[in-house]
Amino acid sequence: MPAISSSAPGKIILFGEHSVVYGYPAIAVPVTEVKARVIIRAAPRSPAGEIFVDAPDINLHSSYNDLPHDHSLAVIIQLVLSTVSISNPPACRIRVTSTIPIAAGLGSGTAVSVALTRALSAFMGRPLPDEQVSVLAYEVDRIHHGNPSGIDNTVITYAKPVYFIRDEPIQIFNVSVPFSILIADTGIPSPTSSTVKDLSKRWEADQHGYNCIFSSVEETVKSARTAIEAGKHDKLGLLMTRNHDLLKDLDVSSPELDHLVKAALAAGALGAKMSGGGRGGNMIVLPNQNDLKNLSANLMNAGAATVIRSTIPAA
Ligand code: MEV
Repeated sequence: MPAISSSAPGKIILFGEHSVVYGYPAIAVPVTEVKARVIIRAAPRSPAGEIFVDAPDINLHSSYNDLPHDHSLAVIIQLVLSTVSISNPPACRIRVTSTIPIAAGLGSGTAVSVALTRALSAFMGRPLPDEQVSVLAYEVDRIHHGNPSGIDNTVITYAKPVYFIRDEPIQIFNVSVPFSILIADTGIPSPTSSTVKDLSKRWEADQHGYNCIFSSVEETVKSARTAIEAGKHDKLGLLMTRNHDLLKDLDVSSPELDHLVKAALAAGALGAKMSGGGRGGNMIVLPNQNDLKNLSANLMNAGAATVIRSTIPAA
């Protein structure tokens, strides 16, 4: 049996993180410069039915049966096998590698779930359609993150820019003029699940106040979609910075994120904001498109741990 491989990109939220959990729209794009990759080979000399997992990036080399039941790789393998109704799988070896930085808001875990679902279902002779791939990846995120909106599994599965509203059909929209963004990591790990949980407690205590901020974010997201569709990058930059200010009002930013946003704007960026869960992790910058190199150096000088350049192609 030939080896089966599959890969999935990272992702970044351009607009609307956090409010998207409460049913407001958000925009996310795939980050195709980084990828999770899964290769599955038959292992006819292994014990019957053994599924062995190699994930060298996290130093994991284990039989599926020996993984803790709630390990995200065990969960996705179990979900795929039950979805394709295979109880006696042929022995195989699964190799998982990724260039997506871990715990940085770039969807590393979700991309592994998507690539593994595609590769394993195909290996079993029952390849799953995108819709089901996305549902299974959501299930894993739900177990590990509590209350995810579903934007991560959607953008990573479809690998296209998405305008996303929770529990509504995915909207893929037009990017008329390609543009590049810079993604700068504060180097401070911050699990999205805890910032989402923390905000939900504060929302419970003051729903009216937070819903007002979410409505302002919604206006920003809608205008951003129009600006992307029209190729108006100056406007898009201003909207990014506006969204950052609203995320500060939601109290999910941090001094380090605010510092990188300020540094980017001082260096001439069209706009900048934190991205994802916040309190650490990544921020994004929309540079003047002929000034990418300088801005990248400025972000490193301002304390960014890494800077990734990502291009959103016309589509
Ligand atoms: C997702 O990458 C970021 C949050 O909006 C959480 C979610 O949508 O599940 C903060």
